[in-house]
Amino acid sequence: MDIGIDLGTANVLIVMGNKGIVLDEPSVVAFNKKINDVIAVGSDAYKMIGRTPDHITVVRPLSDGVISDHKMTERMITAFIEKVTGKQLFMPNIIMCIPSSITDVESRAVVEAAKIAGARQVYLIEEPVAAIMGAGVDISAPDGNMVVDIGGGTTDIAVISLNGVVAKLSLKMAGEKFDRAIVKYTSSRYRVLIGEKTAENAKIAAANVYTPDGSRKLIVKGRHLVRGLPERIELNDYDIYESLIDGVREIIDGVKSVLENTPPELAGDIYKNGIYLTGGGALLFGLDKLMSSELGVECHIADDPLSCVARGTRLAFKNIDKLLDGFEHVSMYN
Ligand SMILES: Nc1ncnc2c1ncn2[C@@H]1O[C@H](COP(=O)(O)OP(=O)(O)OP(=O)(O)O)[C@@H](O)[C@H]1O
Ligand SMILES: [Mg+2]
Repeated sequence: MDIGIDLGTANVLIVMGNKGIVLDEPSVVAFNKKINDVIAVGSDAYKMIGRTPDHITVVRPLSDGVISDHKMTERMITAFIEKVTGKQLFMPNIIMCIPSSITDVESRAVVEAAKIAGARQVYLIEEPVAAIMGAGVDISAPDGNMVVDIGGGTTDIAVISLNGVVAKLSLKMAGEKFDRAIVKYTSSRYRVLIGEKTAENAKIAAANVYTPDGSRKLIVKGRHLVRGLPERIELNDYDIYESLIDGVREIIDGVKSVLENTPPELAGDIYKNGIYLTGGGALLFGLDKLMSSELGVECHIADDPLSCVARGTRLAFKNIDKLLDGFEHVSMYN
């Protein structure tokens, strides 16, 4: 009956002990100002982005890895939990993974929302710990492993050994910033303004951050900034490369600095084991190869990188008493 939640800035995933992944929806809420109420969450709200009349706002309450809207975040969490538990009266334990950059006050608000939705106990787990467990790594051994989780709002880099975090770094450079960089590039290079959803599609369909050669491309639609009329343009992998390469370098530099601050024995383990890439950003085309060549360490894209954190929370239930740094037991809410 226990529930694991990956409260991501881009996507929320929920796993249940016996059933696996029971919910996988974008972190979006639609609010109707006229009736002063939430009208849709998740996938239904996502479809409304950029297409609403004035009295409806669609928000990503966890944009950029920070809680930009507390009330909406709480409403979203309760709605998702109710959706999977069906409002019945059992009290699950919840292990929740929250963005690493949110403050203590914010994480309490999140825990409080889970309590309101009926949680008995709420545990918080650090994202990289859940991610690497979900990637199938046994973190209990005295063996160093490194994970780079590239999500929507943050990139979390961590070295883990003996169930604990040895070195870590969180960067606010991830998927959403990539999308915005594509919007910016397209408006300055082609004078065409595209939406962020369109930019995300272009990133997924036409990126090549290692060896762009013009072969990956996509037609996108937007509005011409001078003529003001709808316009179609073709974006290819050179365009996406230009847009994203600075952000990608920032992530690689972050990984380098964590490696430099890793004790030598563990650094040796990482050279042997390779680096695990998780989160949706792990799928950025060519990133694994670029990182491997720049760092001289093999980089593996984890199986189904988008669900690693959620699957990791499920595994974490079995180790609740063993994990050291990765857990924060939130008992003050009992
Ligand atoms: N094939 C792909 N290529 C590049 N990026 C991708 C691909 N598929 C998904 N993404 C990006 O992955 C991001 C979402 O990843 P994920 O669900 O791991 O984030 P999150 O866990 O919600 O965010 P965070 O961990 O920062 O809170 C989005 O920005 C999405 O555009
Ligand atoms: Mg995440």
